[in-house]
Amino acid sequence: MMQQAVKVTDTIYWIGGNDRETDLFEGLWTLPKGVAYNAYFINDEKSALIDTIKSDKLSAYVERLVSIMPEGHGIDYLIVNHMEPDHSGSISILRKFYPEMKIVGNKKTIEMIKAFYGISDGMVEVKEGDVLDLGHHRLTFATIPMVHWPESMVTYDTTEKVLFSTDAFGGFCALEGGIFDDELDMSLYEDETLRYFANIVGRYSAPTQKAIAKVRTLDLKIICPSHGPILRSDPWHIVDLYDKWSSHRTEEGIVVVYGSMYGNTKFMTDTIARAAAEAGIKDVIIHDASRSNLSYIVRDIWKYRGLVLGSCTYNTELYPPVAALCRALKNKMMKNRVLGICGSYSWSKGALAELQVFAEQGGDWQLVTPTVEVKSSPTEEDLILCRELGTNMAKAIRESGK
Ligand code: FEO
Repeated sequence: MMQQAVKVTDTIYWIGGNDRETDLFEGLWTLPKGVAYNAYFINDEKSALIDTIKSDKLSAYVERLVSIMPEGHGIDYLIVNHMEPDHSGSISILRKFYPEMKIVGNKKTIEMIKAFYGISDGMVEVKEGDVLDLGHHRLTFATIPMVHWPESMVTYDTTEKVLFSTDAFGGFCALEGGIFDDELDMSLYEDETLRYFANIVGRYSAPTQKAIAKVRTLDLKIICPSHGPILRSDPWHIVDLYDKWSSHRTEEGIVVVYGSMYGNTKFMTDTIARAAAEAGIKDVIIHDASRSNLSYIVRDIWKYRGLVLGSCTYNTELYPPVAALCRALKNKMMKNRVLGICGSYSWSKGALAELQVFAEQGGDWQLVTPTVEVKSSPTEEDLILCRELGTNMAKAIRESGK
């Protein structure tokens, strides 16, 4: 018995696969709950595949495909919405099995297929708004550049009002039995969806806003993303979440991240966190930069308006895990945030000065005073300043949220 395709509509099928074996997405982002690579088959007079799958998951894809392929039929079209190899990785082998299959993509996609897989024949180039008529289904295409790569596009089935949205509206987490939003407790997916957004798509928030503007013009019944559940009971919910995150609308709360060798910087940030809590901030999330995976820290920072960074000085510089976080946050181009900073040193300063540079150049941060710098271990006067910073952070977060 082989794995079976799952019906999305009478003629559209999910033929994706779950990956619970890969430890790191893109070789970087930990996957404790796995990830799904979704792909789809449209069974029509002309048949079409929407994307392929990561090459090591091809067996699930092929088994599901042949479970519903009409006997003796080939594949007429492979529509390539996105070229990252978690979706394009099986193009070469499918082309070998279906040599007559036309590969559909935009100009950039076609260039990338040649660069990645050396295939340049049998291509159908489509532009924004072009129509591909499969018989019953009429597909149109829209580009959504940089969500998540330059060639990214979506395919919209005007017949059944189904949007194949590629990385947009996707998330981490393998599909746990149910694959539709009404078969799952979607609240359990939200943290992993935000972690995916913040780390994979977040840098491209402005292009995401442009993509959402296009999606909002559609008459939409179902969203079929490339990762995460298929949205059929409330497709606009995920659009609203992506809209909120990509427009930098944040929640009242503080993420406190510290890099500490012997606990002195941690003492400072714990004091700041306590003062913020006493000032009424209920959501205070503390991360040890050495121990929390970067992707979780970035996710939480994306969610909340306030961030406190504390770092000891290490070889005259910022502590390496805090430096890595600052580099990642600068790359994300975050906006509308409130920042507090503190640092420590023992004989040569360094950490706080680098945090001050980050505050000025690392995004759109409102720096809250006082900044606190401690020699070796905090004195009672230093801790008074830390408490003042925590109180002022709470006030600034509330005021900027009005
Ligand atoms: Fe799921 Fe950008 O690939």
